[in-house]
Amino acid sequence: MKKLKIADGIHMLSMNVEDILFEGIWEIANGVTLNSYIVQGEKTAIIDGVIGWDGIPETLYRNLAEIGVDPKKIDYLIVNHMEPDHSGWISNFRKIKDDFTIICTDQAGKMVSSFYGEDRIKIVKEGDTLDLGRGKVLSFHPVPNVHWPDTMYTYERGTKTLFSCDMFGAFGRLGEHCFDDELTPEEMDFFEAEGIRYYSNVMATFTPSVKRAIEKAKTLEIKTIAPGHGLVYRKNPQKIIADYVRFSRYAEGAGKREVTILWGSMYGMTAKAVEHTEGILQREGVKYHKLEMPLESESEMVATAFRSAGIIIAAPTYEYKLFPPVAAALNELGRKKIAGKTAFRFGSYGWSGGAEKELQEIMERTNLKWDFVESVEFEGAPKKEDLIRVEAGVLELIGKMKEKTVE
Ligand SMILES: Cc1cc2nc3c(=O)[nH]c(=O)nc-3n(C[C@H](O)[C@H](O)[C@H](O)COP(=O)(O)O)c2cc1C
Ligand SMILES: [Fe+2]
Ligand SMILES: [Fe+2]
Repeated sequence: MKKLKIADGIHMLSMNVEDILFEGIWEIANGVTLNSYIVQGEKTAIIDGVIGWDGIPETLYRNLAEIGVDPKKIDYLIVNHMEPDHSGWISNFRKIKDDFTIICTDQAGKMVSSFYGEDRIKIVKEGDTLDLGRGKVLSFHPVPNVHWPDTMYTYERGTKTLFSCDMFGAFGRLGEHCFDDELTPEEMDFFEAEGIRYYSNVMATFTPSVKRAIEKAKTLEIKTIAPGHGLVYRKNPQKIIADYVRFSRYAEGAGKREVTILWGSMYGMTAKAVEHTEGILQREGVKYHKLEMPLESESEMVATAFRSAGIIIAAPTYEYKLFPPVAAALNELGRKKIAGKTAFRFGSYGWSGGAEKELQEIMERTNLKWDFVESVEFEGAPKKEDLIRVEAGVLELIGKMKEKTVE
């Protein structure tokens, strides 16, 4: 567990977590951090106390002791968000100390009771404050439906620190460098990619609420953003706010000038046209990502499609429908509401076809409103004229993507 001083009287405890499926689904190739914050005035508050997945609260207590905080002297436990990655140690903490007060929103209060049987809860509303003494004053700002309905920001007025919980978070383990101003250019690229992976996997479904939460952050004067996952931004907190604005646009159809090829092929017929497509994208100087389904992880597939302005779906007919692993990927993008992408599909069939019909059904059901170039279907192996039609489709896609490109 890392222990870092953020400001006088404010510390962060951070734990890298690896080898788990985040939310039980997402394979996080590069890990994730769980961050807790301790604010000390005359009274002491802990924000988003986590035990991490080692399941041993003693680890947290020992680390608290090492930064000079006696766990028995914690007065307030601020639950910005009840999800157990932020609150899992409450019951254990009660065992060693029974007179602390939980502070959270009304929605979180109901969950803290139903999940942990807690009743010593103080409910806060927009703008309520808690004076800890010695200049540390916390204010609370609900940001509902940013991941869960219960979520709020906690803001410390003296140091202008925003404890943003899941907002402004990122995947990716923290190494030596935990503050934005310490990063090497490679680390900056790493956390940009991990921010995209996190937003697309965890937050994309909630984009309208995320946009409201961004607006709320803009009403506060912020010097430091201290999220529940990932880096602390003290040099340029506006950078992560601008990144989140950009990510919210990726969820609405914008993207980098990149193409994701979501493909699958049973006997290599559709694959021949994929190969041809790669040659065209290379010739046109368009970066692309080839994701063969179902070999790619869901996390990677969602993140890659999310950041790309253009999507090529290359999949044959299978039992009168779209090749199932590719259909499953599209359904997942539908759940995540990754809308408005510019797209093109081609694929092989043997006798009746049917893939195209299911593609239309998926698009209608998920209401993704992707902007499609006319699809190309071919019988058996792609012939010369089929490849010419595929080329025309790819070029049209590249042309249409221009309006949606946001780097
Ligand atoms: C299990 C299976 C189911 C198929 N179902 C259909 C179908 O319902 N209608 C159709 O036109 N072709 C169907 N086909 C034929 C494939 O679409 C055809 O072989 C196509 O060329 C496969 O392209 P690929 O090599 O890129 O996978 C099926 C093939 C397989 C192996
Ligand atoms: Fe969450
Ligand atoms: Fe979280």
